[in-house]
Amino acid sequence: MKRIVVINGPNLNMLGIREPGIYGTLSLKDIEDKIRRQAEELGVSIAFYQSNHEGDIIDRIHAAMGEDDGIMLNAGAFTHYSYAIRDAINAVKVPTVEVHLSNIHAREAFRHHSVIAAETIGQIAGFGEVSYELGLLALVRHLDKQT
Ligand code: DQA
Repeated sequence: MKRIVVINGPNLNMLGIREPGIYGTLSLKDIEDKIRRQAEELGVSIAFYQSNHEGDIIDRIHAAMGEDDGIMLNAGAFTHYSYAIRDAINAVKVPTVEVHLSNIHAREAFRHHSVIAAETIGQIAGFGEVSYELGLLALVRHLDKQT
């Protein structure tokens, strides 16, 4: 069974409370519950991790090496400036999908660029919690093709 880890970065523990007009009213736990059900349907095993700390996120990405077959990552604001997270994805070579609740390309200029995107299979942004559903499906399909 394929193993996937969903990593959420800073402030995503505040989902449901933080700017609901942009990020929706579901909590991170609500989203994780949905993803857990979807993972069962897709027949993959799923783990969840959230941290507000760049180094901890990097440590979790490193831990994915040999542990997880794929990573779904919402790095929050680190998306836009963390070369260290980008390098971690490159180092472990675990296929990674980048997801965002909001359409980062339609927001403030500093959000338009992801320094992580070039190290990922692809990016899904703008569909609220559905971005995670689409991300999981895309990641599982990608892994299926590889084996
Ligand atoms: C986000 C977009 C980022 O720009 C922002 O800093 C976040 C959330 C999203 O899911 O839309 O924290 O990654």
